[in-house]
Amino acid sequence: MSILVTGGLGYIGSHTVVELIKNNFEVIIVDDLSNSEKFILNNIEEITGKRPIFYPFDLRRKELLTQVFEAHDIKGCINFAASKAVGESMVEPLDYYENNLFSLVNVLQEFRKRNISNFIFSSSCTVYGQADEMPIDENTPLKEAESSYGKTKQMGEDILKDFSRAYQKRVTLLRYFNPIGAHPTALLGELPSGIPNNLVPYVTQTAAGIREKLSIWGDDYPTEDGTAVRDYIYVVDLAKAHVAALKKLINSEEETVLDVYNLGTGKGSSVLEVVKAFELANDVAVPYQICPRREGDITVAYANADKAEKELGWKSETTLEEALKTTWEWQKYLKERTN
Ligand code: UD1
Repeated sequence: MSILVTGGLGYIGSHTVVELIKNNFEVIIVDDLSNSEKFILNNIEEITGKRPIFYPFDLRRKELLTQVFEAHDIKGCINFAASKAVGESMVEPLDYYENNLFSLVNVLQEFRKRNISNFIFSSSCTVYGQADEMPIDENTPLKEAESSYGKTKQMGEDILKDFSRAYQKRVTLLRYFNPIGAHPTALLGELPSGIPNNLVPYVTQTAAGIREKLSIWGDDYPTEDGTAVRDYIYVVDLAKAHVAALKKLINSEEETVLDVYNLGTGKGSSVLEVVKAFELANDVAVPYQICPRREGDITVAYANADKAEKELGWKSETTLEEALKTTWEWQKYLKERTN
């Protein structure tokens, strides 16, 4: 069965492609390489023994997208293609709306025209903002997103709700908490362009000596150690959830489905706990300094992922330390590659 994976060479996309191939899906990737690299395709082939079909173009190019749908009997889509830098989205919001939403609508139009169902959307826990109560389950009220990036996720969800209702389609919204780690082969991982914004890539580059010191954004939060708390989910566990969600959609007897799942571990870890766990797991030092809070950051977010366990038969299996070990192996691989 052929599945379109947009953004399939990106961080979460590439790990998901590997799991799809392992589960005998034929994968067709469309990725414009704006935040990914071509060698990832070779590495997917090295891991799985299969080379996915790959089209390098921007999904806003409708005529090219139509050709892909004409060439393949596509039965579903996992949509990862999107820009994701929170700060950048505040400076160039129009680029975010155009890239993240026009691309999405273009794929959905093809689904509508050709009567295809089974659509999985990469959403984010960012749609909840600072929730009033922890843990966050799928019924936790959504709050206005802080960033334009976050708004594209909320709007994307709204577009898909309408799409599912008006055209009787099967849709799943997956709300990721904080994805971390790399493939156990060290052949896939996160490729932050420039200075990383996210915690784990920054920690990793600091340990590798690429960055001098990690800045911890705030130690005066009302948490146990004063640093902010997140739910760090291992990227391979996350990838497996996509396959489980896709199988559920494909096997569903309902014509119209709109499912929403939180994907997290259910456990919150503070910034300092992540730093300590990284040091312990990899026996390296991560020099850090305490800095003022980062604008737009929330205090705490962790998931109640019971619904995914009950309905998808999926749960997070990898510990924070195990995940952080894979990140370090990936960093070593990247270093060897550039030497
Ligand atoms: C961020 C985005 C979120 C997005 C997610 C994607 C914001 C406000 N939110 O989540 O919308 O879906 O990335 O992965 O940007 N930290 C430091 N020092 C650093 C980097 C981070 O102390 O150099 C802290 C942050 O203050 C935060 C925690 O580490 O408390 C996690 O930060 P990060 O990895 O950027 O993720 P989020 O902010 O949770």
